[in-house]
Formats: sequence, C-alpha cells, structure tokens
Amino acid sequence: MKSYIVGNWKMNFSVGESSVYLHKLLQRLRGSRSLEVVVAPSSIALQPLSLQTDRKKIRLAAQTANSHDFGAYTGEISCTQLRGLVDYCIIGHSERRQLFHLTDKDVRATVAAALRNQITPILCLGETAAEHTFGETHDVLRDQLLGGLSEVSTEDLSRVIIAYEPVWAISTTTGAHLAAPEEVAATIKYLRQLLTDTYGADTAEALPILYGGSVNPSNAGAYLTIPGVNGLLVGSASLIADQFLEIIEIAKRVQD
Ligand code: PGA
Repeated sequence: MKSYIVGNWKMNFSVGESSVYLHKLLQRLRGSRSLEVVVAPSSIALQPLSLQTDRKKIRLAAQTANSHDFGAYTGEISCTQLRGLVDYCIIGHSERRQLFHLTDKDVRATVAAALRNQITPILCLGETAAEHTFGETHDVLRDQLLGGLSEVSTEDLSRVIIAYEPVWAISTTTGAHLAAPEEVAATIKYLRQLLTDTYGADTAEALPILYGGSVNPSNAGAYLTIPGVNGLLVGSASLIADQFLEIIEIAKRVQD
C-alpha cells in the first residue's frame, strides 16, 4: 500500500517563507509512486503554492475547511473553494476540536464535503490526556472514527485517510510525552478491527492509517514499522527542512 508523509505547518510561515521552503523541498525530493509527500500550509499560501508545486513530488493539503459549499460563513473557506488547489484536507485535527470547538457533526459533514469536491479527507482522531488516563481511549476513538465516516459511502471509503494522533503526544500540548510504539500498535490494531467489523476486511485493509504526535527523525522509524501504520502526520519536525526530509528518507527505507 502507498505510504504518506504529511507535514502540518499549522499557523507558521508567511506566504513568502512558505514558497521558499516549498522550493527547497522540491529541489531535494524525487517523486515516488509508493510514497506521497504532502504539506499543509496556511490557507493564504495555498493558491500560490498550488501554482509552484510539482504534484509528482509534493501535494498540498488544507488544514481545515468549512462543511458548507458556500454562504454566509465569515472567515471560512469551503471545500468548493479549495477544489483544484489541494488534493487533501486535514479534518478534525485536535486543535480544531479543542480550540475552535469543532464538533463531531462538523467533522462528519466536512468529510462528506471534501469527498464531493474531489478532495481526500485526512480524518484525525485522538484521545485527550484525561480520556487516556480514565481508560476511555477506545470509546472516544470509536465515536470519532465511525462518526466521522458515517456519511461516507462504502465505495468512497477508498478515498479516505485516517490519522491517529493521541492529543497528549502532540508536541504543542502542555506536558506532551511520546507515545510508546507498543501502545500505538495496540491502538492501530483496535482501529483496524473496528473498520473490519464495520466495513469488512477488504475495505478495512485498504484504508491508510497515519500516526502523528511528536514524530521526529529519531522515532519515525519505530512508528512507521508498526503493523498497519501507513505513514505519518508531522507537525513541528515538518517545519525544519532537514528533519522533514530525513523522515521522508526513513519512510522510503522502511518501504524497501
Ligand atoms: P507534532 O504535531 O508533530 O508537533 O506533535 C502533530 C500534529 O499536530 O499534527
């Protein structure tokens, strides 16, 4: 199966800096059919970067989108507007859920909006530190996963990517700490089983699941070799070219 390395730049880099950074990455990357490199710049940089990028090497993702196609939603950007600019959209990132009160209903509707606008949703799931401590991880992930996919037809499931990011392991979270690969492996197994029970083994196996949470060049290999992990969603380390490129190299080595 194809692997994915996705860099989430969050609210970093001006448009000019984004362009210079993309240029640097494009110069140093070679295209690969089995490894998709994706970056998610701020929305204001998407249009110029969409003209600059070489989609054989790097594809673009939006960091979020509104679920409506158009209308009176001041400050929002729809998947209809993003269509043609990006191939992917991150949906339901924990920062959107926590800081901007994105609800499960919004997430589900945005996944559907992305699909009807020919954009691949990267549906993010993850339990908070408190949910983790109180043993609620499985329940939370089940609701986020099956809820997020509930408006997706069985045939459209092949156009969806899942990203599991324990909120307590995200680098910007207070007191964040690394998730042990063994624990991530157990959670990925649980997610695959849920997908198998709900959609059948063939569909479940074909759905890419990425891992994210303080991924860097020293731990990328350990996460990428977990059975059932098909790539990484990288925040902080994606802001530094050498680190991001090293993670991509590691992903290529793991595939070989
Ligand atoms: P991080 O961010 O790699 O800095 O932990 C990951 C994310 O929030 O997607």
